[in-house]
Amino acid sequence: MNFPVTRMRRLRRTEAMRSLVRETHLHPGALIYPLFICPGEGVRKPIGSMPGVFNLSLDEAMKEAEACAALGIGGLLLFGLPAEKDEQASGAWADDGIVQTALRAFKANRRLDTLVTMADVCLCEYSSHGHCGVVARDGDHYTIENDSSVALLAKTAASLAKAGADIVAPSDMMDGRVAAMRETLDASGHEQTPILSYASKFASAFYGPFREAADSAPLFGDRRSYQMDGANLREAMREIELDIAEGADMLLMKPAMPYLDVIQEARQRFDLPMGAYQVSGEYSMLHAAFERGWLEPERTMMESLTGIRRAGADFIVTYFAKDAAKVLG
Ligand code: PBG
Repeated sequence: MNFPVTRMRRLRRTEAMRSLVRETHLHPGALIYPLFICPGEGVRKPIGSMPGVFNLSLDEAMKEAEACAALGIGGLLLFGLPAEKDEQASGAWADDGIVQTALRAFKANRRLDTLVTMADVCLCEYSSHGHCGVVARDGDHYTIENDSSVALLAKTAASLAKAGADIVAPSDMMDGRVAAMRETLDASGHEQTPILSYASKFASAFYGPFREAADSAPLFGDRRSYQMDGANLREAMREIELDIAEGADMLLMKPAMPYLDVIQEARQRFDLPMGAYQVSGEYSMLHAAFERGWLEPERTMMESLTGIRRAGADFIVTYFAKDAAKVLG
């Protein structure tokens, strides 16, 4: 039935009416806030390219976590900046590693009980070369070894679970890491720890600001031999299928905005809980426009998050988590 019988604007007349027919909803519990934990005390070091984001020493991170809990945010995703880095990224799985120490402190604080603590599992922040896996050098050439990396990543996942991570989230993109982690977690008594696999992670320029935040820029080369080519949707579906077969409990899609079609396709094909990561560059570019007065901060932020939800993400990892939770009340 066409105009004038059908008038689409009838349902847009008032905010009450629009609210009644709204199809996509955001709530604070579906937002995950990333934290970058560094050594020291009283440290709150701003990340130049990410206004409002800091490297935080544990005492400051604790305050931030309490603020997140008070806002009803669903969880935290923890990254660590170790005091020292080495070739083997030994800080990643050290019992007294930076994230392990933070996890123990968070778990002891009952005010954080409503937060799910997710630990990013990767070697790049802990390795002197900044790659996500073990580097094998041969003269001027280098490769990122898969299988030896997987062994270290599995060890890291078990160490993080032992320290109290509710969820381990591998972001390295090595083949076979999910199966190896499941096996190591089970063998060490962590059969109840879920794996949130960054199953579909593209080699993206949008991670640029994160590498400042996590001090994890590769010293040489790039990540294109392990992260996916941004042109490939079918390959992303294969990656997800494999991770599910290896035992992933949940999926994380990354980045979000330039890959909404990938999120939508994954939502249609797979029934696992699925999150999307609105990555550092997505946050930075919006902030750059806010600073210039070119975009209206609150509306643009909420629209960017709604788009990701509409594409099919159940939850969103976002540096806007606190700001959005305040808007959502
Ligand atoms: C670690 C990791 C990265 C991000 C999350 N985990 C960086 C990378 O792969 O280079 C990016 C997050 C962001 O940009 O906000 N491998």
